[in-house]
Amino acid sequence: MRIDAAYSASALPYTNYTRLSPWQSIAILSVSRLEVANNQWIASKREVVSHAESGNLWCSADAQYLLDNIIGSIYFLILTIIDWLLGQSAKRKKPSMNIKGKVAVITGAAGGIGRAVANEMANRQVGSLALVDKTEAVHELAKEINQLAGRTVATGYPGDVTEDSFRSFVYRDVHEKHGVVNICVPAAGITRDSLSVKVDKQTDSVVIYPGKTFRLVTEVNLIAPIYWALELVAGIADDRRKNGLKRWHHTEGVQGTIIFIGSVSSQGNKGQLSYSATKAGLEGAASTMNAEAIFHGVRCGIIHPGFTDTPMVRALGEEYIEQNIIPQTQLRRLIKPEEIADAICFMISNPAVSGSIWADAGWRPAA
Ligand SMILES: NC(=O)c1ccc[n+]([C@@H]2O[C@H](COP(=O)([O-])OP(=O)(O)OC[C@H]3O[C@@H](n4cnc5c(N)ncnc54)[C@H](O)[C@@H]3O)[C@@H](O)[C@H]2O)c1
Repeated sequence: MRIDAAYSASALPYTNYTRLSPWQSIAILSVSRLEVANNQWIASKREVVSHAESGNLWCSADAQYLLDNIIGSIYFLILTIIDWLLGQSAKRKKPSMNIKGKVAVITGAAGGIGRAVANEMANRQVGSLALVDKTEAVHELAKEINQLAGRTVATGYPGDVTEDSFRSFVYRDVHEKHGVVNICVPAAGITRDSLSVKVDKQTDSVVIYPGKTFRLVTEVNLIAPIYWALELVAGIADDRRKNGLKRWHHTEGVQGTIIFIGSVSSQGNKGQLSYSATKAGLEGAASTMNAEAIFHGVRCGIIHPGFTDTPMVRALGEEYIEQNIIPQTQLRRLIKPEEIADAICFMISNPAVSGSIWADAGWRPAA
């Protein structure tokens, strides 16, 4: 017996194409065959469940089958009501981008902020974590996180974030082992600070900031994070394409979130020409991606941390920190990496937050 959509558009408040939940799908399958969004027939219960779980099961409300089977219609109506009730209670419990169970990629994971984000996501029961950094320390971090979690959550991926082949390998490997990547925090970054133009006392000559250094900082701080983020969007777009989905609809829930790491220096900071320029560039990239990637259900934001207690800042030296940084903060201390990680996870899990957040401890640099 075939009841492609054994319900009536007049009896139920549905439009012509209606998303089915797993409940509805299983019910229908017991008496019918179904049509998925790309117009393929599916016939096994396993297929229905997997399509429904991936949010890609649709049922064609074709009028000619409407009255094919009255019993089927009643059966379907009852299950629809049960499903609606279950859906209402689920909606009350869950924000639409809960970190729990998601698949995340963090670059710069062996550094201060990346490490704190990894720990915070593990606390929030992320499903799987890819820890990317140029140092082998990511293996040790993965081990620590897995021991604390009592399960295998994290995997270390040592490598250079500027290498395209490395990036493709990581995404492919994570996808094969854990599914589509939903979260990306590309935190790997470097500083190469120096005045833009200075008089070198030793050589008694005027020196311009080296272009080669500028290009290196741009590769790591600007181009790499953007491409790690684009890889996430591409993965989700491809998955949706394969499932016959087109423009994202809010009823699907948020599919992915990217949080770039900017800096207070994005507004300019003496001695940080290349660093400031790359962090300001990320602001433009985040707003553009925010506008584009939502087509595939992906949000994109940027956080601008102030001076945070990580190896990057400690490298400035205690004296410099005490004299030039601490007095210009409201808190009179460096920000803790955990405070930045908390703000990043807040941005990910609250879909109403868009654009940028300044986590700068009231940083007011002297002119
Ligand atoms: N610490 C701060 O005060 C502060 C403030 C604002 C923004 N940020 C930004 O936060 C991010 C994290 O910084 P952090 O303070 O944790 O610094 P960090 O130096 O502790 O960590 C950076 C990590 O990036 C990794 N890395 C650098 N280049 C890489 C490459 N080519 N490939 C792979 N990994 C690479 C390093 O190995 C390191 O583990 C950076 O983007 C930084 O610009 C930091």
